[in-house]
Amino acid sequence: MSTTNHIGKPTSRVDGPAKVTGSAKYAAEFQVPNLAYGWVISSPIAKGKITKVHAEEVLAIPGVLEVFSHENVPSLAWFDKNYKDDVAPGGSPFRPLHNNEIMFSQQPIALVVADTLELARYAASVLRIDYDQQEHDTNIENKRDEGFEPGRGKTGWMPPPPPRGNPEKAWDDSVHRIEQEYVHGTQHHNPMELFGTTVEWRGDGKITAYDKTQGVVNVQNYLTKIFGLSKDDCRVINLYMGGGFGSGLRPQYSVFLAVLASLELKRSVRVTLTRQQMFSFGHRPHTLQYMKLGTNPDGTLATLQHHALHETSQFEDYTENVVNWSGMLYQCDNVKLGYQLTKLDVFTPQDMRAPGAATGSFALEVAMDEMAYAAGLDPLDFRIRNYAEKDQNLDKPFSSKKLRDCYHLGAAKFGWDKRNPEPRSMRDGNLLVGYGMAGGVWDASQQKAAAKASLTMDGKLLVTSATADIGTGTYTIMTQIAAEYMGLPLEAVTFKLGDTDMPEAPVQGGSWTAASVGTAVKNTCEALGEKLLKLAQKMEGSPLKGASIEDVQFVNGQIRLRKDPNEAVVLRDVLQASGEDKVEADSSAMPNMIKQQPYSMHSHNAVFVEVKVDEELGTVHVTRVLNAVAAGRIINTKTARSQVLGSIVWGISMAMMEETVMDHKFGRYMNHNYAEYHIPVQADVHDIEVLFVEEEDDIVNPLGVKGIGEVGLLGVAAAITNAVYHATGKRVRELPIMLDKLL
Ligand code: MOS
Repeated sequence: MSTTNHIGKPTSRVDGPAKVTGSAKYAAEFQVPNLAYGWVISSPIAKGKITKVHAEEVLAIPGVLEVFSHENVPSLAWFDKNYKDDVAPGGSPFRPLHNNEIMFSQQPIALVVADTLELARYAASVLRIDYDQQEHDTNIENKRDEGFEPGRGKTGWMPPPPPRGNPEKAWDDSVHRIEQEYVHGTQHHNPMELFGTTVEWRGDGKITAYDKTQGVVNVQNYLTKIFGLSKDDCRVINLYMGGGFGSGLRPQYSVFLAVLASLELKRSVRVTLTRQQMFSFGHRPHTLQYMKLGTNPDGTLATLQHHALHETSQFEDYTENVVNWSGMLYQCDNVKLGYQLTKLDVFTPQDMRAPGAATGSFALEVAMDEMAYAAGLDPLDFRIRNYAEKDQNLDKPFSSKKLRDCYHLGAAKFGWDKRNPEPRSMRDGNLLVGYGMAGGVWDASQQKAAAKASLTMDGKLLVTSATADIGTGTYTIMTQIAAEYMGLPLEAVTFKLGDTDMPEAPVQGGSWTAASVGTAVKNTCEALGEKLLKLAQKMEGSPLKGASIEDVQFVNGQIRLRKDPNEAVVLRDVLQASGEDKVEADSSAMPNMIKQQPYSMHSHNAVFVEVKVDEELGTVHVTRVLNAVAAGRIINTKTARSQVLGSIVWGISMAMMEETVMDHKFGRYMNHNYAEYHIPVQADVHDIEVLFVEEEDDIVNPLGVKGIGEVGLLGVAAAITNAVYHATGKRVRELPIMLDKLL
């Protein structure tokens, strides 16, 4: 029933003007009357017990309303140990102010609430808290031998598949072998927007929480369970987000504390975290990866063995998929994958853009590069030789897989053939030049989602769904999809999101929003189309009488017969004739399990990088990056490209700069600010390019989209590391590649 007027076009962000003019409101910007302000007190010690909170001293200050701590928080329903929100890791969920135990540095231990922000901050600065300090351990090196396999924790966690073939014998029989450890430190999400919540007290225990989150429905579920509120009494809104990257998947302690204070004080309360506190609620875990690769004489992989060990907290078992990808990206019959956690006195790690895969692909793809050199093969040729035609983990074919095109088209566009395979052989003046490549695989998944559409007399369509736009382009692509399926110009369509009063949608994560909410929007528009057709058929002399939905098209604000486009009815006239001031429909979408079950569904990419290295200074410039991505149908080539450009910048960051440094003496992250947590600036980003490889797939979902948020990050850090090796002959196996690693 549709034309392709909007899908696939480089439409500019429909929310762009609101964002650049400042009219887009973020969680901590909502003005509500009689607002009180909360200031979070973070633990200065990494482990121990609070023996006394001297609250009375600051409560004497005029304007200080309350000090919330374990000493006075009411006993809440959620202290039920079995409670879990939709994305909480396994184990016992972190419960702020629950008791006097301190389990990590910067743990939120109290909230001071006052009439003004300044007063709350001042009172927090003078509040005395006594502690009993205990020994802590924040160093993964001390806990290498205490790894354990997690049980099934959070939703979607898949343990590695059992070993296949005979990995040990294949290792012994291999003609070339690589056995190495690959390491990356802790990284923090660092979105520009601080976590913050403005809770509006609506009277009688009813609240509206404007909260920074990647999923309002998830936050509402969390709050209703914890505080025993009904959904009607607890509305959650988040219209815009200044970056999430996974940090907003879990409801954060800021929303808990703000709602607690609001309900207790019966007053509107805002809690905003500081930049330092943005390093206290989850991170990409410090991970040690061990790889063993062996090849046969013909350059095929004889065995692939990948083991990962990463940190988690003492109380929750955070899991991510680090190693499973290694069992599916290349054809190999003798595979062993292992995955373990080890407990440290830190907060629980948290999904961070392409969780697990970004780091797993670093180890795998650097090891593959090392193996290619050991076997005397070009790194690209080596990968193509070991191309996986099916997913050996699941023993299923791929619903679609255009990785070969990513390799070939990417290599051609990049000029890979100009690469002299010999390390240290290419120069630009006094700079060493290196070419490196790598790639990756990510899930193409779909979650249940719902939407609602409403067409009004003025010919305008409003579509709503409680999804999020964390900067990904949701507002824009949903507008495009709705305009496409209703045959309307973009200007006639408004898409609204981020409000629990709207139909339910999942958290924005896992690269599933386009597939999940997009399909729901499509279904909803089709449901609306059927209603409109019925109304049109009731019109006097309707040319559509007797037509089925398949017989008609929605084009240019009309419903018209496919076989005779001159036979048409204008949508506005349909509304007029119906006597209704609007026509509404709602619908939802779920993955088609029966259709999908026989297949493995994934997106893929291949990254090509040029670096220039000044050997005397040890400086690396990532001068060119080309990222070839096969992610199904691209709804919007502009916003999708933006996402991959962002991924490339992040990959440069991951390879060259990012690391949260722990001072183990204090058990605290030292560089918890933008000055010392290094990320790329304009001068660090040179020529970056995105190539979308055409890929059709009607199995993943009716739109054929696979999602683009995470796949672009895969392999970028590995390709840079591999290019650095090609340039210098120095193999770096620990990120980030700081100067000292090359001098
Ligand atoms: Mo993404 S780490 O699933 O927000």
